[in-house]
Amino acid sequence: MHITRTFLAGAALAVSSFVGGATALAAEEVNIYSFRQPFLIQPMLDAFTAETGIRTNVVFTNQGLVERLKAEGMNSPADLVLTVDIARLTELAKADVVQPVSSAVLDENIPPNFRDPKGLWFGLTTRARAIYASKERVPKGTITSYNDLTDPKWKGKVCSRPGDHSYNIGLLGAMIEHVGIDASRTWLEGVKANLGEKPTGADRNQVKEIMEGVCDLALANTYYMGAMLDDPEQRAWAESAYMVFPDLDGHGTHVNISGMAMTKSAPNKDNALKLMEFLSGEEAQELYATVNHEYPVKPGVPLSPLVASWGEFTGDPIPLATIASHADEALRLVNETGFNEGP
Ligand SMILES: [Fe+2]
Repeated sequence: MHITRTFLAGAALAVSSFVGGATALAAEEVNIYSFRQPFLIQPMLDAFTAETGIRTNVVFTNQGLVERLKAEGMNSPADLVLTVDIARLTELAKADVVQPVSSAVLDENIPPNFRDPKGLWFGLTTRARAIYASKERVPKGTITSYNDLTDPKWKGKVCSRPGDHSYNIGLLGAMIEHVGIDASRTWLEGVKANLGEKPTGADRNQVKEIMEGVCDLALANTYYMGAMLDDPEQRAWAESAYMVFPDLDGHGTHVNISGMAMTKSAPNKDNALKLMEFLSGEEAQELYATVNHEYPVKPGVPLSPLVASWGEFTGDPIPLATIASHADEALRLVNETGFNEGP
């Protein structure tokens, strides 16, 4: 119990205070640093503990985890990092705070495009970058591709969060791979020209703009449809729009991942691997995807009824590692086009 509290209070304590604790933790616990909100991961962690008897300790934060892992170095008590977006996962790899993991179970459960070739990170769920369209003003079937966002007939009617947000950088990275840098710049300029306002806020704010009549079309991730429906204040935003799974140059809809990585310092390496394998398995996959309205990475795991109701789509099979390799070019395009300055 004392050890658990020490871990949870870690942010405020000196690194040296973990050293003894981390050793003593071995064999029965896993320490997790999470970018994901507690309610999203607790059901899976409870199931893991029920099955294995291994306890989990979670430190939740939505920023500063990479810096913290760097500062703690090999004294870090963390074993596993849970996060969203390929950008965060590659940031961990670049910062050299995670270690390669080799596991036949992970390789079996997680398709190769959703994991790092060197085993430094693994996808757990996927989410598509959808286009939300006004039920009132955009007839079904009108929008089929990301390119449709650049059609001059939507001038002043497209909403997006800032271009340099990792979700848009991921989409641009996939586009750069498929159509090249020049066509991607043209696309970004076309979307910018159609913006209804300066990009601001997060994905859900863009859907709210559809409800308020500011925009007719918005880029936003799929799980936000579920999140808005779950929230009494946001339900009307969701109900004002329907989702389209847009095609990217014949490759399907851009998908990104949430994922996990084992820290370089992991004091409970064996238990951490057990948890990673558990999270990639059937039971956890179904739970994990359902709680946040995402898609399981493991093939054949059933979708939640709500997610299934959004319909089938073809996800772009491009490796997430390839998408990540274009992040710098994507960011440069956003800056060069002045996307964030608005129309
Ligand atoms: Fe998100």
